[in-house]
Amino acid sequence: MRRLTFRRPDDWHVHFRDGAMLETVVPHTARAFGRAIVMPNLVPPVTDRASASAYRDRIVAAVPQDADFTPLMTCYLTDHTDPADLIAGFREGLFAAAKLYPAHATTNSAHGVSSIRAIDGVLGAMADAGMPLLTHGEITRPEVDIFDREKGFVDEVLIPTLERFPTLRVVMEHITTRQGAELVAEHPDRMGATITPQHLLYNRNALFAGGLRPHMFCLPILKRAEHQEALRKAATSGRSNYFLGTDTAPHLRHLKEADCGCAGVFSAPVAIGAYLKVFAEEDALDRFEAFASLNGPAFYGRAPNEARVTYEERATPVPATIATGEGELVPLFGGGSVDWIEASQ
Ligand code: DOR
Ligand code: ZN
Repeated sequence: MRRLTFRRPDDWHVHFRDGAMLETVVPHTARAFGRAIVMPNLVPPVTDRASASAYRDRIVAAVPQDADFTPLMTCYLTDHTDPADLIAGFREGLFAAAKLYPAHATTNSAHGVSSIRAIDGVLGAMADAGMPLLTHGEITRPEVDIFDREKGFVDEVLIPTLERFPTLRVVMEHITTRQGAELVAEHPDRMGATITPQHLLYNRNALFAGGLRPHMFCLPILKRAEHQEALRKAATSGRSNYFLGTDTAPHLRHLKEADCGCAGVFSAPVAIGAYLKVFAEEDALDRFEAFASLNGPAFYGRAPNEARVTYEERATPVPATIATGEGELVPLFGGGSVDWIEASQ
């Protein structure tokens, strides 16, 4: 049986939601990860210091007593973001970063930014302060093919923005294409990218395997196999720009198995095992620690976690559903098994 010991990892992209859902999902992330970048797309969104501070308190209250876990907060950018509040929140350590949702790109993004030019003042202040911009990298014009939206964002939004703000630090969240991976590699000094387990494990065929698979639906959507291959090469390359970010995004089962189903894969219960499967398949277990535990902290200017964890290769059943106070969630690998599991202490 293979075993692997590495520094306790961090998750640089999670959705915790709120209320009963938050209480169910936070422990899954808090047990496996030391820190997590928390996405702000609540209803209403987390758009200032006051709402972020209150949300952080609700998250901390849901962390199990025995878990050593710190949530890192983000601010949801709108056309009306106050740069002074944003930068003050960054300087005092409340905000780790700010998140750009193009309006209507994804779940709860209606208040997002209408045009990148509308936030030039904010981006200039962020560049000056060294505050990272996290992007949901999809253009939203409805006539653009859903499989081309990330490439469109790279060409139409990201490249011009990088040129206009030469010192702005940017994380392209949940990259799904070769073009996304390449752009990040071209800007090693100031760009990072998170990569989800589902975009490493699957390509768009998984959306239609034997029928329509709502639990494989997330945004940006799964792409062709050639893009999956590019992401697997990037994640296991050892390059410091790529790091772990699950985009774990729970939605109640009935809201995914619906006529107009929600986007998101709930991966937190099996996240580390899912990534380890990919690294084992790529014969790159020796590069896992960099991706999971070192590259993210380095980008964010933080020390890696001191604690070590050990995982072993042992197929373990995953429950088909997980109950919340509001209804059921279907986790990644639900009803199947995960290949790697934390070794018992
Ligand atoms: O699949 C997704 N789910 N993509 C996103 O960008 C948002 C997320 C969510 O909040 O459900
Ligand atoms: Zn997300």
